[in-house]
Amino acid sequence: MLEMQTFQMDSFLSGDYKKELAPHLAEAQQKLQSGSGAGGEFTGWVHLPRNYDRDEFARIQAAAKKIQSDSQALVVIGIGGSYLGARGVIDCLCSPNYNLKSKSTPNVYFVGNGLSADAMGEVLDLLENVDFSINVISKSGTTTEPAVAFRFFREALEKKYGKEAAKSRIYATTDKSRGALKKLADAEGWETFVVPDEIGGRFSVLTAVGLLPIAVTGVDINALMQGAADMMNICENGSFDCPAWQYAATRYALYRAGYSIELLACYDPAFRFMTEWWKQLYGESEGKEGKGLFPASVEFTADLHSMGQYIQEGKRLMFETVVRLGSSDRQLLVPHDADDGDGLNFVAGKSMDFIRDKAMEGTLLAHTEGGVPNLIVKTDGKSAADLGGLIYFFEYACGLSGYLLEVNPFDQPGVEAYKKNMFALLGKPGYEDRKAELEAKLQK
Ligand code: PA5
Repeated sequence: MLEMQTFQMDSFLSGDYKKELAPHLAEAQQKLQSGSGAGGEFTGWVHLPRNYDRDEFARIQAAAKKIQSDSQALVVIGIGGSYLGARGVIDCLCSPNYNLKSKSTPNVYFVGNGLSADAMGEVLDLLENVDFSINVISKSGTTTEPAVAFRFFREALEKKYGKEAAKSRIYATTDKSRGALKKLADAEGWETFVVPDEIGGRFSVLTAVGLLPIAVTGVDINALMQGAADMMNICENGSFDCPAWQYAATRYALYRAGYSIELLACYDPAFRFMTEWWKQLYGESEGKEGKGLFPASVEFTADLHSMGQYIQEGKRLMFETVVRLGSSDRQLLVPHDADDGDGLNFVAGKSMDFIRDKAMEGTLLAHTEGGVPNLIVKTDGKSAADLGGLIYFFEYACGLSGYLLEVNPFDQPGVEAYKKNMFALLGKPGYEDRKAELEAKLQK
């Protein structure tokens, strides 16, 4: 079961911060459980692992099977909450090298999460001689990046199979009734999956948004949901027995004590996109009204050789939350070398995990002594159930954290600013006045 620990926190936080924050957490707990807090209409994810739509879940599994049988690749089109969770889980459970492996399941390409012609064109090239399907994901159904990408990939699909046959290879995950994508899907007869009204993008990985791409890779989505349900049961009993309470309280106490950056660290490169998912979750939920910890991430030990200097001795702004995923699947032992030319025989016969654990302990001591408080989130291992539990833990702690901070954790008003400017500069109808104003500013 997931555990949350702190290391020598007394030297960074004075007083019994848990006791002091307990009533505030109890209030946040009540808001999350009842949906009565700010943004309460978007707390559908709180009970999702128990309440999810079983019929849709079965359709997701059936669609995944069909894609596995008729496609060598699945193109997942989406941005932000509409792709990061799936990418995080697939990388973590199947490897960042999943597409390079020889396997019986389709490759998965994530596109529509930016506006780079090179990145998108490269995937179009890779699909030229490959049978593929598309899962286009957009809750609003109107986001520019995925909409633009969908035009390209739909065109490629229809060119390959003809308009009619292409229809059975397009899966749209979107709002149940609103938005351009839903309208298009209904008109064209594509299979659709629902992003529930009461679940925002960054909390949607355990809906069809994440589940369909994840299931296509062969990951056991039942186990993923079960892991989340087990964590949900723990979180329902609001108390410091719940690791999400411990995490939310400690990071909030550190924020109040003047820390402004939280670094999510992991010693497994496969976790990198989970850290990207976490950054969106916390950044969009807390970063508003001039408040919030800045969520950043590091991959150790690689980043100890780049960011390590700053973390150890730079401006004292940050604390670390280190995710420890248990032992690796492979137990690789360092070979013995009779000559010992590299002087490494002192680790000969030791496992990579052993060496990593010593690096982890050494870093914990060094960073703590350097003034960087450390929180540790430990899972038993790296199974689908472990990851389901970890996802729910971070989501629940995020909801609690938003309420401790007295913000609405479920909106993202700041995301609109760049979109409005981009639409105006692109000449979208309705933005004419703004276009002239912005173009004048750009001349200065
Ligand atoms: O969390 C969010 O709401 C956002 O990051 C969205 O996921 C992102 O902007 C994509 O939106 P949509 O799914 O509507 O295309």
